[in-house]
Parts: sequence; structure tokens; C-alpha cells
Amino acid sequence: MYRPEAATVNGAGSPPAEPAPDESAGPLDARSTIDLRADEAAERVRSVLDALDAELVGLAGVKRRIRETAALLMVDRARARFGLSASKPSLHMSFTGGPGTGKTTVALRMAEILHALGYLRVPRVYPVTRDDLVGQFIGHTAPKTKEALARAAGGVLFIDEAYYLYRPDNERDYGQEAIEILLQEMESARGSLVVIFAGYEDRMETFFSSNPGLSSRVAHHIEFEDYTTGELAEIAELMLTRDDYRLSEQGRAAFLEYLDRRRAMPRFANARSVRNALERARLRQANRLVAGHGQVGRDDLMLITEQDVRGSRVFIDPLETGLEDPAV
Ligand SMILES: Nc1ncnc2c1ncn2[C@@H]1O[C@H](COP(=O)(O)OP(=O)(O)OP(=O)(O)O)[C@@H](O)[C@H]1O
Ligand SMILES: [Mg+2]
Repeated sequence: MYRPEAATVNGAGSPPAEPAPDESAGPLDARSTIDLRADEAAERVRSVLDALDAELVGLAGVKRRIRETAALLMVDRARARFGLSASKPSLHMSFTGGPGTGKTTVALRMAEILHALGYLRVPRVYPVTRDDLVGQFIGHTAPKTKEALARAAGGVLFIDEAYYLYRPDNERDYGQEAIEILLQEMESARGSLVVIFAGYEDRMETFFSSNPGLSSRVAHHIEFEDYTTGELAEIAELMLTRDDYRLSEQGRAAFLEYLDRRRAMPRFANARSVRNALERARLRQANRLVAGHGQVGRDDLMLITEQDVRGSRVFIDPLETGLEDPAV
């Protein structure tokens, strides 16, 4: 049957449940074509992807996976316009990687993309940990988990260090109850809620292998690798530029040395450690300027020098000082 494009408007008066292009119009003629890139949602997705590129150094694999997910949903929208079956794909995910590798940041961008493409109602991430979901006493867990699900509804429920939900050694643990409720919701709420399980890779693997029901409902596994020293240096430059600071040439060399030392120490947290190191360098810069001659210009206020970097205790042998936390 031939139906001219947008000739009929069905369901007039009832607003579409979600923003999809021309949802109110009938399906397109089989011979017509549409430009996937000209869609208004595609435009918004592109701007989120551009922001992601500008804001996050490296993470090539992660960025590729996000583009793939966006492409899948864009094609689904196009299929819907031709009246083809476009059942919503399951987009529950796991983000595995070390501390400070960008998992939380990427989750926020993912929520924006899924919202732009009409998959989520709100571009929001609701972060939780075990304590937000699991109660201490009998009867406390279900209401807690359900409340978290209700708060996250329409957006992303981000479960950080998800493996703490599961404690096989403790028979009376209520984590399993929380997992069961999550499972039901993940199955039934397809499209209205995305659950992202985040944590370190090895422990996540154990968690998923002990919970096959969960694992089979998580279709997308995205891995965040530790950053190289070069990437960490680039991240530092990005953070400094954003805040109107810059490293002197010797300062830059000293910072590379700092990174090599720091990453070999305990509690190294990738980009977060970089952020913290820069905070402390700023502190030392301020002290240097205040203790100095008193006269400062614009450039003095922007410049982080070698001295500001080398003031870190990371440059002192921690064995010699017996420091608890060498990263100060
Ligand atoms: N690739 C990157 N480029 C620039 N900044 C980054 C990058 N990755 C992370 N950051 C910054 O580092 C900080 C920590 O990132 P984020 O909180 O997303 O990491 P995380 O993986 O969630 O860490 P955790 O596992 O400890 O929760 C944030 O300020 C973020 O903006
Ligand atoms: Mg995080």
C-alpha cells in the first residue's frame, strides 16, 4: 500500500510517549530515503560526542563504543519511521576500570546521548553504592532499592563498586535481595531506565560470574584502561588550560617526573590523582607568590613553575620519611 509521506496524522491529541521524529506521521514509503545525519537528535548527539572528545583525553575504545551505541539508536529511529520493528534494545551496561579513569564522567555523557535519542526521559545519572540499596535489617532492603529505582526512573542508575552488593560469605546478607529487585526492574523497565554497574575489572568479573542472571541482562561491557604517562600529562594540560593556568617548560618536565613517581605509589587514581596534584601545585604557587615580592602580573598568576611541582612530597623518598600517604 502506498502512503504518501506524512499524509496522515494518527493519534492526534495524544502526545507521543517519547521524542522520535515524525512519530505522529505514518510510516515512510518503502522507496524513500532519510538522511541519518540530518535528524535533529543526531545534531544533539554530535554535540555531546564533540564535548566528550574535547573534555576527555584518550579513551579511544570507550568513545568508539559510545558512538556505536548512538548509531544503533539512530538506526532504530530510522527503522521506526519506515514502520520496521524497532523494539528498544537493552542498554544496561558495565563500566570496568581503575579509579579515576573517567567512568562517572562518561556515564553522565552517556545519559545525555540516550536522552537526545529519546531512549531516556531525563539526561540524568543517579549514583548509588551498596549502602543506598541494601538495608541492615530484614525488610529494609526492598524499600531502599525501590526508592533508588524510583529516583533514577527515566534516567541512569549508576551502581558504583557494584560487587559489594554480593557477599557470598555472609549467609544473612541482604545484597541478594537487592540484586533480585534490580533484575526484575531491568527486565521490565526496558527503555525507561538504564542500569550501569561500575567497578574494578577483576572484581566485576567475579561478581558477574556469580550472578549469571545479571550478567545476561548486561549487554554492553565497556572497559576503561589506565592512562599512560603521556595521557596523564595531556589531561593535566587540559585541566590547567580550562582553569587559566599553565606550566613553565621546566615545570612541565618536572610534572612528567612527578607522574612517573606517583603512579608507582599506592592509591594512584589516574586522572583524579592528576587533579589533586594540580590543586596542590596551585596551593604552592599561591604561597610562593604571597611570600614573594608582592608585585604580580597576569602571567605570574597563571604560571606553575618547576618549584611548585617539585614541592610535592612525591619527590622525597617515602621510605626515608616513613610517610603514610606519600602523595601529599
Ligand atoms: N580522559 C580524561 N580526560 C580528562 N579528564 C579526565 C579524564 N578521565 C577522567 N578525567 C577527570 O578525572 C576526574 C575523575 O574522573 P571520574 O570521576 O569520571 O573517574 P571514575 O572512573 O568514576 O573514578 P572512580 O572509580 O574512582 O569513581 C574527573 O574530574 C574527570 O573529569
Ligand atoms: Mg566514579
